Amino acid sequence: MVRVFINGYGNIGRRIASAFSHDEEIQLVGIGKYSIDERLDEAFTKKFKVYVPEQEMEDFRQKGYDISGTISDAVKASDIVIDAAKDGFGYSNKKNFYIPMGKGAIFQGGEDRAGEKKVADLIHNSRINYDKVANQKYVIQGSCNVSGMGRIMQPLIEKFGDKIQRYDVTLIRRSADLEDTKEVKDSIEWDKNPHHQEDVKSFLPSVNLYVEAYKVPSRMMHLHQMTIRFKDKVPYFDSMSEIYHDEFGVAVLAKAKGTADIRTKAREFGFKHDDTNMVHIHEETMRKSDDTLKILYSDDQTGIVIPENHLLFQSMIFGRPKSKAYKRTDSIFQISKKREMLEKEFGA
Ligand SMILES: NC(=O)c1ccc[n+]([C@@H]2O[C@H](COP(=O)([O-])OP(=O)(O)OC[C@H]3O[C@@H](n4cnc5c(N)ncnc54)[C@H](OP(=O)(O)O)[C@@H]3O)[C@@H](O)[C@H]2O)c1
Repeated sequence: MVRVFINGYGNIGRRIASAFSHDEEIQLVGIGKYSIDERLDEAFTKKFKVYVPEQEMEDFRQKGYDISGTISDAVKASDIVIDAAKDGFGYSNKKNFYIPMGKGAIFQGGEDRAGEKKVADLIHNSRINYDKVANQKYVIQGSCNVSGMGRIMQPLIEKFGDKIQRYDVTLIRRSADLEDTKEVKDSIEWDKNPHHQEDVKSFLPSVNLYVEAYKVPSRMMHLHQMTIRFKDKVPYFDSMSEIYHDEFGVAVLAKAKGTADIRTKAREFGFKHDDTNMVHIHEETMRKSDDTLKILYSDDQTGIVIPENHLLFQSMIFGRPKSKAYKRTDSIFQISKKREMLEKEFGA
């Protein structure tokens, strides 16, 4: 069994913990917690061992929490750390714990790949560079938008290759996650330099990609409007299903009216954490005109990166062939089954 410590128990960390605790190849050492709040109680209810910063130990214990040790103890007891810290804290964790103790780590998409606070050279996208991250020590799992874009673009590249001239993507991003207590601001905010463009280009270096990003007051997923410009007329194909029917974690839907429809249905279906763990192409909005194809898809912001972390883990630790890793991840997340249910519900 591989000993895994999950450092950070926020929206992403708690999802990784619940999925990884069901994998019999993994021994969950525990989770790292930094504040006393209802998430801490949740971790105990789920019987996860909890580790805290050394200087906070006394405080947590005095308040009656049965803390298993310090963050440093947990890192020491692990074979690999899944860092799910607030944006930017992964860097100090790497410097203070992972490097001194010689431990490998997976970082999340809010960490840097360049500059002073760089944590790793590679950003993982299972559809594109799963094999390249095999046996690496430090890798970043691409963020939700970056994971979604890779999942949509790679099949297009494989089918149409150099017939495609450029991609323009408008990311319409949710302001907060379902569980966030922060206020959802009544504003549409732009991003003068979205990191997503360079993140995607790190694993698809030769594409002409231009990304704009806007945050809107919603908690229900991201929506991507992708415009694909061909050198000539858009090649003939009937439906998006022709391109995506065998793709892991891509559903083709026709009847959803908005992102909330899908999230609400995921909840009604009883999907864990209300996650679909995938992207959903909204077929009925597809437009073809001369050299231009427009597609719209929604991206489960919190859910999509959790199976991606599981795949990345399998490549880094076992160097397992990709098809076997997909099978294993599917057996834990039930993504094929969820996709079937959603396609039946929202199908044409
Ligand atoms: N939310 C999404 O939809 C999403 C999707 C893809 C990727 N990501 C990326 O995933 C990462 C985590 O995001 P999140 O949404 O889970 O954030 P979050 O809900 O704000 O949780 C961050 C967690 O980091 C913990 N923390 C604080 N200091 C830490 C440290 N030094 N080391 C480790 N953990 C520390 C916090 O602990 P306490 O609560 O105990 O203070 C909190 O539980 C970010 O890089 C983000 O960009 C997020």
